[in-house]
Amino acid sequence: MSIGGWKDKVLFTPGPLTTSQTVKQALLRDLGSRDFSFIELVKDVRRRLLAVAGVQEDAFTAIPMQGSGTFSVEAVLSSTVRPDGKVLVVINGAYGERIKKMCAVLKIAHVALDFPENTAPDAAAVKQALADHPGITDVAIVHCETTTGIFNPIEEIGRVVHAAGARYFVDAMSSFGAVPVDFEAARIDYLVSSANKCIEGVPGFGFVIARKAALLETEGWARSLSLDLLAQWKGLEANGQFRFTPPTHVLLAFHQALLELDAEGGVAGRAARYQANYAIVVRGMEALGFKTYLRPDQRGYIITSFLYPEHPNWDFNRFYELLNDRDYVIYPGKVSNADCFRIGNIGRVFAADMHGLIAAVRDVVQEMGL
Ligand SMILES: Cc1ncc(COP(=O)(O)O)c(C=O)c1O
Repeated sequence: MSIGGWKDKVLFTPGPLTTSQTVKQALLRDLGSRDFSFIELVKDVRRRLLAVAGVQEDAFTAIPMQGSGTFSVEAVLSSTVRPDGKVLVVINGAYGERIKKMCAVLKIAHVALDFPENTAPDAAAVKQALADHPGITDVAIVHCETTTGIFNPIEEIGRVVHAAGARYFVDAMSSFGAVPVDFEAARIDYLVSSANKCIEGVPGFGFVIARKAALLETEGWARSLSLDLLAQWKGLEANGQFRFTPPTHVLLAFHQALLELDAEGGVAGRAARYQANYAIVVRGMEALGFKTYLRPDQRGYIITSFLYPEHPNWDFNRFYELLNDRDYVIYPGKVSNADCFRIGNIGRVFAADMHGLIAAVRDVVQEMGL
C-alpha cells in the first residue's frame, strides 16, 4: 500500500510537522521499556527539557506523559487542582476554550475571563477577575494561542497570579523550545508542551515542566488514574520507568530532536530561524495581496493567520489542494469570527522552503485567477 507516494510533503502546520531525516532515523530501533539504555535515555530527555526551560533540577521536574498534548494539559488540570479548587481560565482562542471545556467535563469549578481572539489578555483584567472572584486557586492561560498565532503576556499575568497566591498553569504547546520563557519571572508552576512542536520530534507524548513544591502538595487530588501527574512523576523517580507502555520509538526520536535543538543554538537559535521563516512568509504573502488577521504588533512568529481574500474565485479547499499537489501543506483556520487559513513557520523548514512555498502560492493564485 502506498500512502500518497514516498516523497515527504513540506508541512507548514503546527504539528505534526516536518522533521529531520536524523530524527526519523532514530525511530528505527526496537527497545524494551525496561532496557537500561532506554531508562538512561528517558533520564537524559527529562534533564535536557529542564535545560531548555532554563530551570534547575532542585526546583523543577520534567514529566513526560503518553498521548497528544491535550492529554498533558488534562493531566495538569485533573491532578493539580485541589478537590475544592477553582480555576480562572484566561481565554482568547480555541485552546483556552478547550481548557474551559476540560474544567466542565472534570466538574472543576471555574471562571472564564474572555478576550477577543485578536487581543492579548491584559494583567490588569486578570488582577480584577482575581479580586472579583474570591477562592480562585489556579489560573490557566495559553502562551502562543495557535488559533491566531498571538503571543500572550504570560510574565505580567504570572506576577499578578503569584501576588494573589494562586497556582499558575501555562499551555506553551506551540511555543516551548522556540520562544524564550523566564519561569521565575513568570512564576510558572506548570508548563505543558509536546514532542511534535518546536522541539521537532514526532507525535506520541506531551510533557509537563512542574515546580516540585507545587506538585508535592497534590497527593490524592488526581481525578484520573492514567493522567495522574504526581503518580507518573513518582514512577519515573522510583525506577526511571513509565507506569504504562511508553512510546519508546517516539522518545528515541525526541532525544535526537533535543540534540539537534542544542546544535542549533538552543531556544535562541531556533527562535532566530523561525523568525526568519515568519518574515519571509508574511512579506511574500502580503506582496501577493494577502492580509494577516492580527495587527503586526500582535503577531507572533510561530504561525500566522491570513484572511480569506474577498474574490469571487476564492475557494480555500481548491487553494489547499493546489498547494498540496505541489507538495506544500498549509493549515485551515480556527478563528471563530473570521474566515482564515494558517501558515506555520515551525518544524524542520528553512528559508528555502518558505521561498518555495511563496513561489507555489504565486503559481496557485494565477491558476485560480485571483
Ligand atoms: C496551544 C495548544 N494547546 C493545545 C494543543 C493540543 O495539542 P494536541 O493536538 O497535541 O493534543 C495545541 C495543538 O496545536 C496547541 O497549539
